[in-house]
Amino acid sequence: MTAIKNDLFLRALKGETVERPPVWMMRQAGRYLPEFMALKKKYDFFTRCRTPELASEITVQPIDIIGPDAAILFSDILVIPQAMNIEVEMKDGIGPWLPNPIRSLKDVEQVIVPDVHEELGYVMDAIKLTKERLDNRVPLIGFAGSPWTILCYAVQGQGSKNFDKAKELCFTQPEAAHQLLQKITDTTIAYLKAKVATGVNAVQVFDSWGGMLSPVDYQEFSWKYIQQIIDALKDETQVIVFGKGCWFALQDMAKSGAAALGVDWTCSARNARYLTGGNITLQGNFDPSRLLSPPAEIKKMVKQMIDEFGKDRYIANLGHGILPNIPVENAQAFVDAVKEYQG
Ligand code: CP3
Repeated sequence: MTAIKNDLFLRALKGETVERPPVWMMRQAGRYLPEFMALKKKYDFFTRCRTPELASEITVQPIDIIGPDAAILFSDILVIPQAMNIEVEMKDGIGPWLPNPIRSLKDVEQVIVPDVHEELGYVMDAIKLTKERLDNRVPLIGFAGSPWTILCYAVQGQGSKNFDKAKELCFTQPEAAHQLLQKITDTTIAYLKAKVATGVNAVQVFDSWGGMLSPVDYQEFSWKYIQQIIDALKDETQVIVFGKGCWFALQDMAKSGAAALGVDWTCSARNARYLTGGNITLQGNFDPSRLLSPPAEIKKMVKQMIDEFGKDRYIANLGHGILPNIPVENAQAFVDAVKEYQG
């Protein structure tokens, strides 16, 4: 394999000393980019995911336009339940829509653990094409949702403020919930392994709804399964775990074998460093809404953020996905500020 020209991101994941921290933005291929909107108008969501030419073009757009230090493959966490025989639609204005949500043990029994090469071969094709288009300029990140976060959608059937039906399944039919979580975990492990074998340079697990659970329930319904994923992947690639609202779990996460941990903006750099023992690479945690501030202010805040986390063992990022209403020049200011960083 040819060496990647800009390997700052991979070096930061390994904990090496770097000239400046690397930077990328969660959901960097998204609706704030006019080039993304042009393709969104022409093709529906899952067509964009399933067509390697489109997925790779969308993945590379932010690299060409904004210039972050890593690319993340355009896809969605919900391609996993789709491949498991759970129907998933993406509705404009609503978001994910699952017409037949899982509500019982009987429903769970209908869920399959698929052959990922057969059902998700289009993702592997998108990776191959994206690697060609990137031409080793920057590393490529592959991702999956955490089993808990996938269960949230599979059971609730759509986005939610509290995912009450997902929690209800866990607390009233724990056996069904655990069977479902294990099926999702097994699929996710095979999926991420296939992605690594196809060429992604690191993987991120998104536990977007982990913060919905109490610390005790988090261990039982989310963390246990993420740990299985880390154990299965950590000898093959670097694993980043991003748990939104999961600062309470950072201590356990730091001992898990993950290469890096994502932090959201409600947890200070100091607290995150304290909880994780100061030795692991942290990623985050700019409030996505703060990208609405004027560029000069964004730059000042980014410098402050890096000073607080420290330049080493750190990957500059947002604390969650970029919002659709962010001006492109503000996203540019965020990335530029990291690139211009001088301790
Ligand atoms: O980061 C990237 O640039 C890669 C692409 C990516 C998408 N989804 C594309 C997408 C990634 C990493 C995801 C992950 C994802 N998908 C998560 C975890 C990350 C997070 O934000 O918490 C979750 C919870 C989902 C589920 C999902 N997909 C939702 C809730 C929505 C609707 C959101 C909305 O704002 O409408 C999606 C659709 C989606 N996935 C879009 C994009 C760019 C927007 C819709 C579109 O492009 O048509």
